[in-house]
Amino acid sequence: MSEYVISVNGRFVPPGEATVSVLDHGFLFGDSIYEVVRTVNGRLFAADRHLKRLRNSADRLELKLPHDDDWFVQHLRDMQQRRDGSESYLRVIVTRGEGALDLHPGTCTCPGVIGIAKALPRWDDELYAHGCKIIVADVRRNPKQATDPAIKSGNYLNNVLAIMEARRQGATEALMMNVHGFLTECTTSNVFVVKGGVVKTPALDQGLLEGVTRGFVLEVCRGLKLPVEETSLTADDLHRADEVFITSTTRDVMPVGLVGQHKLHSVPGSITLRIANAYHDVLHDGRNHQ
Ligand code: PDD
Repeated sequence: MSEYVISVNGRFVPPGEATVSVLDHGFLFGDSIYEVVRTVNGRLFAADRHLKRLRNSADRLELKLPHDDDWFVQHLRDMQQRRDGSESYLRVIVTRGEGALDLHPGTCTCPGVIGIAKALPRWDDELYAHGCKIIVADVRRNPKQATDPAIKSGNYLNNVLAIMEARRQGATEALMMNVHGFLTECTTSNVFVVKGGVVKTPALDQGLLEGVTRGFVLEVCRGLKLPVEETSLTADDLHRADEVFITSTTRDVMPVGLVGQHKLHSVPGSITLRIANAYHDVLHDGRNHQ
C-alpha cells in the first residue's frame, strides 16, 4: 500500500496517476491555499476550525471555494477511511485552477481540490522528553503588508529558506522575526515563551498564522488560570525565558531545549508540561471531533 492516499477534485486516484495541469496557477504562481487536519482515534480533530481558516484564506485571495464545509468534512473522512487505520495527516489544497499563462487569475474558472493523506508524523519521544532545538533564522517572515502569513497559502518559499537554515544547524525548527525584529512564528509551528509564570506568544499583528493549536493552547492557559499575553517579543525574550515551546497540528505542544547555542534549563518546564497535559485532554475531547 502506498504511503499516500490522494484525491483530485474529489476523485481518489492511485498516487502514480494523480496529476495537476502545468497551467494551474497553484503550480505556476503558488496561487493556492491549504489546511492540515489530523485525526485522533480516527476522528477528525478540529476540522471546523481548520475549515474556517481555509475559508478565510480563500476570501483573502478572492478565491471561491467550490464546496461547502460539509463536503470538505465528508471528504476528509473519506481520506481517513482509505488509510490503514492509523492516525492520519490530512492535507487539503485548493488551487486557483487552470488558466492562461498570465498572473491575473481571471481565466481560472475552476479551482482544483487536491487531497493528500499520510500517516500522522510521529516525532521522536526524545524531543518531548528533552526538548527540540530551534534557531532564530536570518530569513525574515513576510510582512503582513506583503503575502500575509495569516493566509495559509501554498506560497511557502520563505519558510523553505528558513527550514533549510535550521537543518544546516541541526535544528528541528526555525523561528522567524518580522522585518522590525520581533518574533513571529516558526516555519510550520507557533512559538510560546514562559517567563515568571506568564505565558507569552507573538500577537497576530506581528504577522503570523493563527495556528489552531495556538488557539487551543491560549484557551487551555485561561482554563488553568495561567496569565497569558499576546504581545511583541524579541530574541532577548527567548534567551531570558524560563521555558519555550512550539505548537502545531502535528507536534501538539513540543518543548524547546536549545535556541541556537543557548540551553534552556529544566526541559520540559513545569508550565509547559501542564499545558501539554491539558492540551492532550483537548485532543481527546469528543466535542472537538467531527
Ligand atoms: N503547519 N505557522 C505556520 C506557518 C504553519 O504552517 C502552521 C501549520 C502553524 C501551526 O498551525 P496549526 O496549529 O493550525 O497546525 C503555524 C501545518 C501543520 C503544516 O504545514 O504541515
